[in-house]
Amino acid sequence: MPARKTLIDDTRPVLGIDIGGSGIKGALVDTASGELLSERIRLATPEGARPEDVAEVVADLVRKLNYSGPIGCGFPAVVLNGIVMTAANVHETWVGKDINQLLGAATGQPVYALNDADAAGMAEMRFGVGRLQSKGVIIMLTIGTGIGSAIFVDGKLVPNTEFGHMEIRGKDAEKRASDAARKRKDLSWKEWAERFSEFLNRLEWLFWPDLFILGGGISKETDKYLHYLKVRTKIVPAELENQAGIVGAALYAAAQVHLD
Ligand code: BGC
Repeated sequence: MPARKTLIDDTRPVLGIDIGGSGIKGALVDTASGELLSERIRLATPEGARPEDVAEVVADLVRKLNYSGPIGCGFPAVVLNGIVMTAANVHETWVGKDINQLLGAATGQPVYALNDADAAGMAEMRFGVGRLQSKGVIIMLTIGTGIGSAIFVDGKLVPNTEFGHMEIRGKDAEKRASDAARKRKDLSWKEWAERFSEFLNRLEWLFWPDLFILGGGISKETDKYLHYLKVRTKIVPAELENQAGIVGAALYAAAQVHLD
């Protein structure tokens, strides 16, 4: 049988990068299997996380992996067609910046950026827990410095939801119930779970989801708090842990290249 012809070589690894408040992580990803094909490199996010400084670190990461080709990049903000629209946990000068252009110029490669939780959610749906159940309304939450969200309806992402900024008791939900808030306020797991339950309950009343997937560093510690959460909806921890953001970003870039 003749080889199938596609616009890009599906077997070529794609670089996925996850920009976070403390680290910028990246690896080459096999977008067909979700496996990492290189070491996972983590460089410190520069102090203040200003656009130009972040771009330099991203370029450094690309050089370290000796990579050329499309780059997917998860970023902790609303990203609309490459334009950063918000800046809750990154430098305010990001707002209005074309991140694809900025990182594209710094690396010399085509860059496709999206919200970090959307990236993690896409990876979880394809290769993690979501592969077993994709029908219905599924909400993935990443709990770290902030609370990121991604909502899938029958497997299709509705991008840039920002449930972490829902107002609860007069405050941003993530200011009360992120993992950073738990540490900052020295909350016990039970106290934190009460706050987090309140947030989940609000989402339940608004979206009536079939499943919550909990990601971020805290997904490894479910034994400490899962039994304290009082919710109607089934909850499962994410499976890909700290690789989800990288893998999802690579998936996104591969899909964008096909669309271009
Ligand atoms: C940002 C989101 C992001 C989340 C997790 C929030 O503060 O507004 O865009 O997904 O943090 O990084």
